[in-house]
Amino acid sequence: MCGIVGAVSQKNIVPILVEGLKRLEYRGYDSCGVAVHQGGRLKRTRSTSRVAELDALVAKDDVSGGTGIAHTRWATHGAPAVHNAHPHFSRDRIALVHNGIIENHDELRAELQAKGFVFESQTDTEVIAHLVNHLYDGDLFDAVQRATLRLKGAYAIAVFCKDEPQRVVGAREGSPLVMGVGQGENFLASDAMALAGVTDQIVYLEEGDVVDLQLGKHWIVARQADGSYKRVQREVRTVQAHSGAAELGPYRHYMQKEIFEQPRAIADTLDGVGGLDPSLFGDAAARTLDGVDRVLILACGTSYYAGSTARYWLEAIAGLPTQVEIASEYRYRESVPDPKTLVVTISQSGETADTIAALKHARSLGMERTLTVCNVGTSAMVRECKLSFITRAGVEIGVASTKAFTTQLVALFLLTLVLAKMRGKLPAKSEEAALRNLRHLPAAVQSVLALEPQIISWAEAFVPKQHALFLGRGRHYPVALEGALKLKEISYIHAEAYPAGELKHGPLALVDSNMPVVTVAPADDLLEKLKSNMQEVRARGGELYVFADADTRIDSSPGVHVIRLPEHYGALSPILHVVPLQLLAYHTAVARGTDVDKPRNLAKSVTVE
Ligand code: M6R
Repeated sequence: MCGIVGAVSQKNIVPILVEGLKRLEYRGYDSCGVAVHQGGRLKRTRSTSRVAELDALVAKDDVSGGTGIAHTRWATHGAPAVHNAHPHFSRDRIALVHNGIIENHDELRAELQAKGFVFESQTDTEVIAHLVNHLYDGDLFDAVQRATLRLKGAYAIAVFCKDEPQRVVGAREGSPLVMGVGQGENFLASDAMALAGVTDQIVYLEEGDVVDLQLGKHWIVARQADGSYKRVQREVRTVQAHSGAAELGPYRHYMQKEIFEQPRAIADTLDGVGGLDPSLFGDAAARTLDGVDRVLILACGTSYYAGSTARYWLEAIAGLPTQVEIASEYRYRESVPDPKTLVVTISQSGETADTIAALKHARSLGMERTLTVCNVGTSAMVRECKLSFITRAGVEIGVASTKAFTTQLVALFLLTLVLAKMRGKLPAKSEEAALRNLRHLPAAVQSVLALEPQIISWAEAFVPKQHALFLGRGRHYPVALEGALKLKEISYIHAEAYPAGELKHGPLALVDSNMPVVTVAPADDLLEKLKSNMQEVRARGGELYVFADADTRIDSSPGVHVIRLPEHYGALSPILHVVPLQLLAYHTAVARGTDVDKPRNLAKSVTVE
């Protein structure tokens, strides 16, 4: 999704700005741009191509300067086109980049047009540039403070002015923004990762902050409830941000690499887990988890499916009523709060706008026991929650989430066990067995990965298909949902998942010989029911592609293709069964020639509503 980099320095900062954009590229974007203060005026280059092309263009146009801003845009208001790409200018005096969405942009646009401002784009962002210009009276810091008071919605902005050559001002509300403190120079970025190798001295700006960056000095003000601003100090943290540009090694795509990293990612996530102590989730965990009488899980996309799987564990093992909600729905729904609820957010990035808003909504209803399962320790989600578990999947570059999902499941299983133990529902023998199974998990996943050649041969059959159905039952229904999401987001084949028992209530009408039906078939106590559902598919000519545990006695026959998983893994079986579905989606997408790591229209980290 959109990315921001800004800098004020005595040296030419264009290489830093462009390199910063490259580090943010994997998040997804459709246009990019850079603007600097050069020769007493604003100079800008924009492109609807990749950052590499922007790099070539700035070299060709001889763009250089010590003060500047840069942006990768993921279109919301206005098509992906050069005139909509950031930075936006206002009357060649103000240059501005923006992440987020301004909800009152129509009203502000009308007001500014009436004052004679001419708009060159369809973006909500251009409104902010003109507003800052309109309020500018020789002090950019002051103009930005006054402008942000008029904005409704979410924003992180970086802005500079032709009349103040060595100053960049930033502000945030609802979208992340960090300041990087250098030696006599200062930086802004939407993620510390953009500044890797530039500075490790990072300030995480808070909601309502406005920051003034100059050479070797900076000031931060925080917006108060009455709309005034007060000078504040924010902690400068030393952050070893990863570069974001992990090596591909022998793999063709990051997604493939990340699928194959799962044994290591799971082992790292379990590293240091000696026993089932609440402190796994933070120092305050014993107190916060004590007396919890239900669980509310908030998440989006793949993380939501991790939560949906965890519901089966939390109810069956810990005996806790569990509700799983899509964050974008929960935040606007009237619901019945219970202060003894443990609110669990799940997020790879920790920056997903809907999940953060849902968390804040839950808190506003009086639910203060909050815990996040997140892959980014420095993210907003971690900072917002009382408790956290940081998965150690490592940086995930592919837009389609894989290793983040399986490590989230590991964390959620640990949470289930800890809660079960605290509630006296985990006999010592079950605890030992569960920990033993967890420790063996990396090896078990490794043996599932060995099925790749068989899955490649199946992928060919999916290439010409336009639709696919995925079936699962019980705790493997969310796995089927995740398999369908993977297939649709990277291969663009329409895929739907159903609990297998629901088939006869409608979706069976879709089944004929053109419909591949992918079935998740573990050897659990729902197996015989699932077999009946498979018969229903075969009776209508549907072609079954079954991932079956070794001891299911499901054999290949005409119209029934079977790949056997090496072992049945009990409660943790969803972690094994999702892996072949990831590989099936991956190899189908490769065979269809799509941009696997950067599927169309999608972004890695969805920081707007
Ligand atoms: O960073 P998060 O886990 O909060 O992201 C949530 C979803 O946007 C994400 O899982 C998305 O669905 C992935 N593209 C799925 O592969």
